[in-house]
Amino acid sequence: MGDTDQKQRAAEAALEQVEAGTVIGVGTGSTADFFIDALARIKSKIDGAVASSEASAQRLRGHGIPVLDLNDVGELPLYVDGADEANRHLQLIKGGGGALTREKIVAAASRRFVCIAHEAKLVDVLGAFPLPVEVIPMARSYVARELVRRGGQPVLREGFVTDNGNAILDVRGLRIAEPAKLEADLNNIPGVVTNGIFALRPADLLILGTADGTRTLD
Ligand code: A5P
Repeated sequence: MGDTDQKQRAAEAALEQVEAGTVIGVGTGSTADFFIDALARIKSKIDGAVASSEASAQRLRGHGIPVLDLNDVGELPLYVDGADEANRHLQLIKGGGGALTREKIVAAASRRFVCIAHEAKLVDVLGAFPLPVEVIPMARSYVARELVRRGGQPVLREGFVTDNGNAILDVRGLRIAEPAKLEADLNNIPGVVTNGIFALRPADLLILGTADGTRTLD
């Protein structure tokens, strides 16, 4: 229950980052859902949103917010999304909801990435949360062996297919001391679409919901 309030506080605070007359990049997950609900209150002031998942697109449309194709809008001024873990350098693990690839694309296409989360998501070292890796289905076993070779314990996310038609391997046992290095290394394994480390393009601002308000890291 406390987590829920904290997520909502972070999401509400992110509303201050929204500029009138712009298209907003919108992430995925329960914290991003609070942001979508908050965005609905100022929908007449924005031109629409680009969604990082089908689920978020549906929620945006449900509020009457136009959902635009990233190919039609060019660079976005702002992307707002949650995270599964964040460190003090604003490097993240994402993909608990399986939307990591589209999230990484929209984050990359945005000038500013504001991450919203409840306080418990802040960690010293990334990796306690199993790292999601999106893989092309035929490469699943090969990629899993490569992940084991790197010290990880990959588990197939059973019964889950991403919005892109791919599988997710959740990798335990990685203590991620050098996030940008590991992100690049894993993305070089043939068959990996992308992995859930967001370090090459970290967040620009982290808004954490706390027991009595919010605190920000930048
Ligand atoms: C979705 O794929 C993830 O990257 C989410 O951003 C992450 O799982 C955070 O979700 P919650 O806001 O539900 O904790």
